[in-house]
Amino acid sequence: EKGGYDHFMLKEIFEQPKSIADCLRGRVNADDAIIQLGGLRNHITKLAKAKRIVFVACGTSWHAGLVGEYLFEELARINVEVEYASEFRYRNPIIKEGDFVIAISQSGETADTLAALELAKSKGAIILGVCNVVGSSISRITEAGVYTHAGPEIGVASTKAFTAQVTVLTMIAIATAQAKGTIDDETYRRLLIELAAIPQKVEEILKSAEEIKDISKLFTFASNFIFLGRGLNFPVALEGALKLKEISYIHAEGYPAAEMKHGPIALIDEDMPVVFIATKDSSYEKVVSNIQEVKARKGRVIAIVSEGDVQVKEMVDFAIEVPNTDEILQPLLTVIPLQLLSYYIAVMRGRNVDQPRNLAKSVTVE
Ligand code: F6R
Repeated sequence: EKGGYDHFMLKEIFEQPKSIADCLRGRVNADDAIIQLGGLRNHITKLAKAKRIVFVACGTSWHAGLVGEYLFEELARINVEVEYASEFRYRNPIIKEGDFVIAISQSGETADTLAALELAKSKGAIILGVCNVVGSSISRITEAGVYTHAGPEIGVASTKAFTAQVTVLTMIAIATAQAKGTIDDETYRRLLIELAAIPQKVEEILKSAEEIKDISKLFTFASNFIFLGRGLNFPVALEGALKLKEISYIHAEGYPAAEMKHGPIALIDEDMPVVFIATKDSSYEKVVSNIQEVKARKGRVIAIVSEGDVQVKEMVDFAIEVPNTDEILQPLLTVIPLQLLSYYIAVMRGRNVDQPRNLAKSVTVE
């Protein structure tokens, strides 16, 4: 049932070209420049008028929400907040008429996320869901939503569910932006073409699995890791750190790269591995300076770089290339090497990657 893979997690990482394609299927037609989200048929025009969107989620799904924040702000110019469901539900959150509260949940059963939605509903918000499990509690209580169609995720560490969540959020953001007129026709068409090309590009990245395994071997000694990125790659840094800590039990932290000098830089020495997401985008030059700061303190740097990169490659200890794509779609690619890195490090440390200690696949108690 693991399809020849050693673990479900590895199988699910390798399934991503297919799971992302399944998520796009019947929804994005790049040739005809059409996005159709059946589940939100009556909601896209309302979303286009929304003053505020609040994402509620936990863990990896919360990271997908952070990517969603950048997407909706950038494309649809809507105010977005991303809330830990457990915090949101125990505050007295301000909900105004017309606010959308969108739950993101693989299982659709996470107790805190479900309770946050119920609270939002009682305060008059329009509640939507982005779930993977069809017929789950969250998908049943929401007014409407979009399924991620990633297929069953068995490994406790979420991988293909995350990329499907980001794919769904991207589709909703593009459709909303188009309805609202905040992106021009050319951008709209280009984004759809780029989105349709993502599965093939993920396939390309998976070809570097052996190379990533070799790099991983050199880092099994580490007891700490820092992950840094900016913009849309900041949530990816958080996700990389979460993957590593949950399956390898190595302490890891993710930060926006510029925050480093406000504290974490004190941790950098020759024993501290630092993973940078340093793809060619609007913050590239800034990230390059952040890498210099780490190298000046002898940190060991692994960088995720764009195909054809020269500058970062010369500075770092190890570089892993990902294909180029539009800046807003980068998380779908940059997260893949981080999933593989954490997987191989955990396996080499003899961990039970599919069922890490203390963790459950679905957290149905708060
Ligand atoms: C991390 C992970 C968890 C879940 C979180 C939310 O790999 O799997 O952090 O993302 O428990 O679960 P769902 O998405 O089912 O609500």
